[in-house]
Amino acid sequence: GPFNAEDWFIGSVDQGTTSSRFIIFNRNADIVASHQIEFENHYPESGWHEHDPEDLVDSVQDCMEEAVKQFTDQGYSIDQIKAIGITNQRETILCWDKHTGKPLCNAVVWPDTRTKDIVRELKLREGAEKIPELCGLPLSTYPSSVKLMWLLRNHELVQKAYEESRLAIGTVDTWLVYRLNGGAERNVHVTDTTNASRTQFMNLRTRKYDDELLDFFGVDPTKVALPKIVTSSCPKLYGSIASGSLAGVKIAGCLGDQSSALVGQCGFQPGQAKNTYGTGCFLLYNVGHEPVISKYGLLSTVAYDFGHKGEATYALEGSIAVGGSGVKFLLHNLGFERDSKRITELAESVPDNGGVYFVTAFSGLFAPYWVDDAKGTLFGITQHTKKGHIARATLEATCFQTRAILDAMEKDSGHKLGDLAVDGGMSNSDLTMQTQADLSGIRVERPAMRETTALGAAIAAGLAIRGCWNSLEEVETLMKTKEGRKTFLPEMEKKKVVRMYNKWEHAVEMSRGWVI
Ligand code: G3P
Repeated sequence: GPFNAEDWFIGSVDQGTTSSRFIIFNRNADIVASHQIEFENHYPESGWHEHDPEDLVDSVQDCMEEAVKQFTDQGYSIDQIKAIGITNQRETILCWDKHTGKPLCNAVVWPDTRTKDIVRELKLREGAEKIPELCGLPLSTYPSSVKLMWLLRNHELVQKAYEESRLAIGTVDTWLVYRLNGGAERNVHVTDTTNASRTQFMNLRTRKYDDELLDFFGVDPTKVALPKIVTSSCPKLYGSIASGSLAGVKIAGCLGDQSSALVGQCGFQPGQAKNTYGTGCFLLYNVGHEPVISKYGLLSTVAYDFGHKGEATYALEGSIAVGGSGVKFLLHNLGFERDSKRITELAESVPDNGGVYFVTAFSGLFAPYWVDDAKGTLFGITQHTKKGHIARATLEATCFQTRAILDAMEKDSGHKLGDLAVDGGMSNSDLTMQTQADLSGIRVERPAMRETTALGAAIAAGLAIRGCWNSLEEVETLMKTKEGRKTFLPEMEKKKVVRMYNKWEHAVEMSRGWVI
């Protein structure tokens, strides 16, 4: 673009389950440079899912360097980048030595189910029924809490560091902020409220660590350094980049990725919702300034916390463990095709699912079912079944679960959602979005700009810096000018929807309790 010294830019780190990116946005929230790197996911045993903590840092730093090169190649100068926002996969837990800054183990990633037995034990413990009310999350394998418990019981280095009060922990945001600040030397050890609300250690209302919760999970805060909980948008507490081309640039915003997508979609009003089809799929519904505790299997979480009048905004959340990772499973494990786009084409090669239903419960089933020991199960195979049917059943699985979540949301809120804003990789598939509209009887709205997750963190950072975006209203007005939305309307015959959804529910029932 033509060089104009008045222009300003915000960088955004998006550290997800399968890849990292760095995107540079201009003041119109348009992308001027970006880079993405996929890193390795480790599955050392059935049900285990790990990341190498150094891979997370390296991939982020490499993305930064590459995007900055694209940026300066266009004639811009680095000092026009006013701040950086960070958004990240949530719940994943990291442990390091607070003196050396060295990781003590691999990161245990959010869909990991090695904690199944601990969860069963906790459900019987006194006070178990109070946990969701306090922190918004049910006892399941999903939150950080049980992952840390597992490490404290089973990982020698973690145990030892804990006994010697050398253990520092954090979710991915915390780890990245710490390392981008240079690690142990500056020791910036913080987390934002949205990420903290995924640990099960934070009280949802006070937004502070809760002794009752820590005690329930057996975590002694004198033996482990917990990150300080701060608001999602602040100019001072996240420090600045310590090395590389962006050295000296402030980190000013931080949001868990699903919160960030809600912000990027401008879901600022109570009653607005978004659904992000990433590795998993996560629906967030803005409920305003008071948390709503679900009776129908949803989570209650901090949507975002920009520090206005000391109030946070809360959301009801429907979390689906397998979204895009179902498609990846067809590619990598079953060798169906070479890229995700071809899976949609395969699904389009058949008129319907041919009676095939795939409960993609690779990590048990999350919302609204919460069955830790469900296993992925494929139903309805006959001699007639082709790859296309299985591809279609895989895409439909995420849509059925979204439908189940929307039903739960309607019951919890007493209000039917009018339309659903979507984003994320699978939302690129017209077939999947049409199926979503059909199966849930809802209008599906897809914006042209689908990097909403990265945008949310950029907005959080920009709001913290004088002279950048001044308010959420300003951002909303800006985003309204964007063209290229696409709307998908429900078209399928009602009777057919009912028939399909009944079969799905039956399949879910049958996938429970498979013993291996
Ligand atoms: O809760 C996990 C979520 O934050 C991961 O998001 O986009 O990597 O599926 P994603």
